[in-house]
Amino acid sequence: MKLAVIYDSKTGNTKQAAEWIVEGMNAISGAEAKAFSIDEVDEEFAKEAKAIVFGSPSYMASLTPNLHQWIFTNGGKLDLAGKLGGAFATAQYTHGGADTVIQSILTLELVKGMLCYSSGNEFGLPYIHLGPVAINNNKESHNGLENYKETFVIYGNRFATKATQLFN
Ligand SMILES: Cc1cc2nc3c(=O)[nH]c(=O)nc-3n(C[C@H](O)[C@H](O)[C@H](O)COP(=O)(O)O)c2cc1C
Repeated sequence: MKLAVIYDSKTGNTKQAAEWIVEGMNAISGAEAKAFSIDEVDEEFAKEAKAIVFGSPSYMASLTPNLHQWIFTNGGKLDLAGKLGGAFATAQYTHGGADTVIQSILTLELVKGMLCYSSGNEFGLPYIHLGPVAINNNKESHNGLENYKETFVIYGNRFATKATQLFN
């Protein structure tokens, strides 16, 4: 089963987080997951995918205008309705609006008819309420992207597990 992770990323943090999700997805038997920047999405692959996770940096506590525009413009081509949908974010500050980013992406997914999933408390720790968030280490010395790797890999694993349960 194909799964796609589609992200916007200017300085590489969201790209890295997307690759961690893909790593977790591909650990599930039968999963074929790939990550794509919005600048180079394989539309055939994304159209065939049963599940898509979108990711964005927090830009003023919103998803980037480029990702919003990309979903607005290209969503119709990808047969999003009925696919499993997820969302993730990276940010500079713990209180920098990452949850708002995720909620905005999930709202777009719902409008497109996607079936939204976060794993929530289904599997216990780590509880991922809306979607995974990674805070970089630019401004907060106690933080750092690498601290979040395990959570993103686990999220990818859970997401692919759910997609397999639903669509295989
Ligand atoms: C225009 C702009 C606005 C940003 N706004 C926020 C913000 O509101 N909150 C926050 O925590 N980080 C903010 N950031 C920081 C990015 O969200 C953060 O560095 C992110 O990890 C960058 O992702 P990328 O490396 O994939 O581009 C902003 C960065 C830029 C360039």
